[in-house]
Amino acid sequence: MTKAIIRRDFLKAAAAGTGIAAVGLPATATAIAAAAEATPFRHGVASGDPLPDAVIIWTRVTPVPEAAPGSGAGGPAEVTWQVAADPGFQQIAASGTLTTGPERDHTVKVDVRGLEAATTYHYRFLFDGVASPAGLTRTAPRPEAEVDGLRLGVVSCSNWEAGHFSAYRHLAARGDLFGVVHLGDYIYEYRRGEFAARGTVVRPHEPAHEILSLADYRTRHGQYKTDPDLQALHAACPWMIVWDDHEVANDSWSGGAENHDPATEGPWAPRLAASRQAYFEWMPVRTGPAGEIYRTLRFGTLADLTMLDLRSYRSRQTSGIEVDDPGRTMTGQAQMDWLRSVLSGGGARWRLIGNSVMISPLALGSLPAHLLGPLRRLLGVPEGGYALNSDQWDGYTAERKRLLAALPDNTVFLTGDIHTSWANEVPRTAATYPASPSLAVEFVVPSVTSDNVDDFLRAEPRTISLTAEGLVRAANRHVRGVELDSHGYGVLDVNPDRVQMDWFAISNRSRADAASSWLASFASAHGSRRLRRAYRPVPF
Ligand SMILES: [Fe+2]
Repeated sequence: MTKAIIRRDFLKAAAAGTGIAAVGLPATATAIAAAAEATPFRHGVASGDPLPDAVIIWTRVTPVPEAAPGSGAGGPAEVTWQVAADPGFQQIAASGTLTTGPERDHTVKVDVRGLEAATTYHYRFLFDGVASPAGLTRTAPRPEAEVDGLRLGVVSCSNWEAGHFSAYRHLAARGDLFGVVHLGDYIYEYRRGEFAARGTVVRPHEPAHEILSLADYRTRHGQYKTDPDLQALHAACPWMIVWDDHEVANDSWSGGAENHDPATEGPWAPRLAASRQAYFEWMPVRTGPAGEIYRTLRFGTLADLTMLDLRSYRSRQTSGIEVDDPGRTMTGQAQMDWLRSVLSGGGARWRLIGNSVMISPLALGSLPAHLLGPLRRLLGVPEGGYALNSDQWDGYTAERKRLLAALPDNTVFLTGDIHTSWANEVPRTAATYPASPSLAVEFVVPSVTSDNVDDFLRAEPRTISLTAEGLVRAANRHVRGVELDSHGYGVLDVNPDRVQMDWFAISNRSRADAASSWLASFASAHGSRRLRRAYRPVPF
């Protein structure tokens, strides 16, 4: 029996409720969009953060036409939610009623408890006699359950103005994903036209100005949630998300951001609070007792997924030898203490870490100026500064050293932020590779739409970037694969023997009907901490 057949049998079993991979086929994007426009549920439904007995379900109700996101208009609205074992909602597993209103932008978010582990559920909402589109979600297996496969979509950097979210549509159409990991930059904060597709706005976002106030952030989140491809993928499976910087402002740190000027935009704290409030209202994410977003999810004995918050507690970005200052932090002390205890405790066979910015060291010093320019802009390298990206872990070297020393075997970093595709072995430093062993592996997924290297160069894809990729790899031998041009998504497949990331590119982000094609795959055998190229994507 071939591996592919084993996988298909397994998926069938999963669909029948005995496995973990499949949650069933989503409705088409077009059908969802049409249904949403005709109902008060025009922002779709979503679910997230599955536990063995719980999952978050989400929607937004528009009780009267003028109650647009961020408007503050519209009164209280009573909404019923239902979680069922069957698509006809005859076998209700949990249900309830709550009142939402303008104080929470008419969003509805329920942490549904008391569910069965490793089970597929249908969920929907009812308002004024109208049912929302139904979503599919799934609870996690119990920690001690033996699980033989886990498949996740992996995405980041979805910029409305830079194009259509075809990556989401193609992921939704697969029907084989347990869930989706979004590594941040789910929205972008810029004013209209400031960061588009090679300078051209594919579709204008709302509001037209840079978002600063609570109403602004709500309006922007609300518009993103009208995208049919985004709605299709949210309705298809639970998401596990973390923010990066653009959910607030570019290159944010604990006390400000590169794209925040207190002189013209006011103090940082209220802007941060506004962005956070809108995020928690609009995203299916579970927060800890102190409002923290870092957390661990677990999928039986096979894998756990630790999602990190690398923006809320970090020291300000710097350059030069200051990056080595042992007092600088990316995570903050409390999150690092928590992370170390998570990593040293009895974890699953694979330790996945959702890590918004690249942890592998990266040397760009050998690149010629015409290539270094676009890479600098993409990677945030300061002009005239050292040739490294001080916004990612390269700007926090002492803390990275401490974290790498604490990594358990079989750690896999899942990373976004830099809009490009990378397969890295993670050395202690770039200079010591390969003399000292790789400590982990890292898969970096490309942007869903945001500009990358050929876009900054205004060049044809796969022309000038090829030179840059060759030079990056020559200067960074731990970078086993790099592709700087494509937009798309990743699919991570985990089994007890290996993890494999498949990268897929979309054909044209300016077109709503863009095709998807396989780009590359890398796998890591359990216990190896190394990568090898895989020559075909996992079948589905
Ligand atoms: Fe981004």
